[in-house]
Amino acid sequence: MAQNGVGFGMRAGILGTGSALPKKVLTNQDLEKIVDTSDEWIVTRTGIRERRIAEAAEATSDYALLAGQRALASAGIQAEDLDMIMVSTVTPDMLFPSTASLVQDRLGATHAAAFDLEAACTGFMYGDFLASALVNSGQCRYVLVISADLLSRITDYEDRSTCVLFGDGAGAAVVGLVPEDKGFLSFHLGSDGAGGKFLYMPGGGSRMPASEESVKSRQHFLKMEGQETFKYAVRAMGVSVERVLSDAHLDMADVDLLVPHQANIRIIEAIRNRLHLDPAKVMYTIEKYGNTSASSIPIALDEAVKQGKVHPGQVALMVGFGAGMTWGAIAVRL
Ligand code: UT7
Repeated sequence: MAQNGVGFGMRAGILGTGSALPKKVLTNQDLEKIVDTSDEWIVTRTGIRERRIAEAAEATSDYALLAGQRALASAGIQAEDLDMIMVSTVTPDMLFPSTASLVQDRLGATHAAAFDLEAACTGFMYGDFLASALVNSGQCRYVLVISADLLSRITDYEDRSTCVLFGDGAGAAVVGLVPEDKGFLSFHLGSDGAGGKFLYMPGGGSRMPASEESVKSRQHFLKMEGQETFKYAVRAMGVSVERVLSDAHLDMADVDLLVPHQANIRIIEAIRNRLHLDPAKVMYTIEKYGNTSASSIPIALDEAVKQGKVHPGQVALMVGFGAGMTWGAIAVRL
């Protein structure tokens, strides 16, 4: 049984991060050849210049595994020491077994339980929340939280309003006990199922199992009401940020780096302006990776750590938003 360090000068925090991205690049110029769009439209409306796309033979678990291995290496933790593996994804390798179970096997994490969680682009916020609760309660010593998606698999490359937005990738963090002057400071999570109609994939579940008709009518691709989703994102992320700051008794001046979900540069800038933040205190990866769903925050966090944009002892504020609708934010001292 793991020792519960809470009350003994320890609490849950992030021990290490990792990420993995496909090599293949899909540029705006490539998309101009596929749909009626332009580099100029995509850059001004979204901030995206290119995104990464997995090879046909690859699957989500391939990238989840790599990101997980890199997070373990950065934390200095062995796979056998893990008690739990969670993978948040909307593009699992298959409906079951879970992608987390596939990763658990390939990692050799012989003592870990494993399951997938689904909170769309907010998955890393939900995963960290659960991992923190498991570690703080003493139920788990080390939890590997992975967010991984190959959104290219459910993107309709005949729909210009969505196909320019998405890319593939994975990010991960190892959660365990850290000295109590570090670690997770506060969480806020939200959900509003009434907004589910703005961003969803109709086919492939129990409501609409795959059929010749469902494939022909393109029901196995994601559908989005862009403007509704945009408004929802700005509103919900703003609320979440304010909640985590007040719960952690912080103000924006105490935050060293904002790590937002990378869906649209205009959404990120709306949040940044609302918080009166200098651009130097915001992590941007949207230009090169597009929207990689739940993995966008852990990829951005991992790159921020590697690039020295945030240092041990500093406060990162992560905030995400996605289908559900779901949203959430986390303040963490690294
Ligand atoms: O991670 C999950 C959360 N997802 C999001 O947060 C996405 C949120 N939404 C958005 O980022 C934006 O709404 C989009 C980038 C999806 C769309 O930008 P917009 O400024 O809201 O554009 P719009 O949908 O209002 O479309 C404006 C025009 C339309 O033409 P008309 O009707 O004005 O003639 C569209 O048909 O732009 C047209 N359009 C395009 N034109 C060139 C839409 N997509 C494209 C395109 N290339 N790819």
